[in-house]
Amino acid sequence: MQDANRILKLPPYLFAQIDKKIAEKKAAGVDVISLGIGDPVEPTPKHIIDKLYEAAQNPVNHRYPSYYGMPEFRVAIADYYKKRFNVELNPDKEILPLVGSKEGLAHIYLALVDPGDYALVPDPGYPVYETGCILAGGTPFYMPLTKDNGFNPKFDEIPSEIAKKAKLMWLCYPNNPTAAIAKDGLYEEAIEFANKYDVAILSDNPYSELTYDGYVAPSFLETPGAKKVGIEFNSLSKTYNMTGWRIGYAVGNAKLIDALGRVKTNVDSGIFNAIQLAGIEALSGPQDCVGEMCQIYQRRRDMVMDALDSLGIAAAKPKGTIYVWVPVPDGFDSVTFANHILEKTGVVVPPGSAYGPSGEGYIRICLSVKDDRLKEALERLKNSL
Ligand SMILES: Cc1ncc(COP(=O)(O)O)c(C=O)c1O
Repeated sequence: MQDANRILKLPPYLFAQIDKKIAEKKAAGVDVISLGIGDPVEPTPKHIIDKLYEAAQNPVNHRYPSYYGMPEFRVAIADYYKKRFNVELNPDKEILPLVGSKEGLAHIYLALVDPGDYALVPDPGYPVYETGCILAGGTPFYMPLTKDNGFNPKFDEIPSEIAKKAKLMWLCYPNNPTAAIAKDGLYEEAIEFANKYDVAILSDNPYSELTYDGYVAPSFLETPGAKKVGIEFNSLSKTYNMTGWRIGYAVGNAKLIDALGRVKTNVDSGIFNAIQLAGIEALSGPQDCVGEMCQIYQRRRDMVMDALDSLGIAAAKPKGTIYVWVPVPDGFDSVTFANHILEKTGVVVPPGSAYGPSGEGYIRICLSVKDDRLKEALERLKNSL
């Protein structure tokens, strides 16, 4: 049997490759420390787990969930966005729960992009922005994120003939993988661009709550005019250590939410109700757990910054996300440096180039590893260079 062409066009999924490398090293007896995937090691807060446990006992929750999510969960999301960002949302028309935000990131392409259409994709960026486009038959156009512009896109460098054929543009701040934050005026400029070229703005904001040194990340939807042109994806995964639960949501422009909902009714059947009820608990219950995680990540970030400093590697100190974007030393490129680290130390880091061509010259260090293991990884790194 022959694979479809669209599958053949996909690059291999980065973290599947990394998992394979880890397995090989472990099989060879190496004590591998992965600073690879952004997957919190701390548990989901207890009050959220307790709610799941309680809700899972109720047979009412064992049946198919609603395609559009439980109304109570949508109301909880609306309340959260109002309280956290002062953004008003209509729970019936402007909110769509997702089986993890990744699912929505991929499916939005089926709602918006036909073969021949372009999508404006940050380079480097979360791989699904590109692969979702390829699966839909669209063409990704890279917007390079470079140090000179604080890893923000330069809209005036997008050729107008591409902009005219583009259906959507991704923005992600605090950013994976560069850990950069949105510069002042970015969202205003994006909205102006969207209005000029009739392009939907898709803000991917799963790290909005994981910020440091007093920085508070905005929602794209706070910017006047944002809801007219775009939606925002958010997730409970990183904020509440819930990556395995698969729960996220899209909010904003009613027409875009409706289009995404129409795709989803045909491909999935929603999130287990007990998980949605636990999601309500996460969004509307005590938020101290979020502040505690920020302190943990900030401490680990500082451990990484100190180690890099002692190695003479000048990385920018992130104000958000759970990543540090590290320039590779002279004599290496992204892949050779990541391989060097793995071979010499058993520490796994993804090469920046795996996130797009403009990621060349960097590796990404992830902070979702226990302090003692991070300390050990950094010691090994220091000794290997
Ligand atoms: C930028 C970005 N967007 C979306 C996701 C997907 O998150 P989830 O599907 O767990 O909600 C991730 C996960 O790492 C991410 O880094």
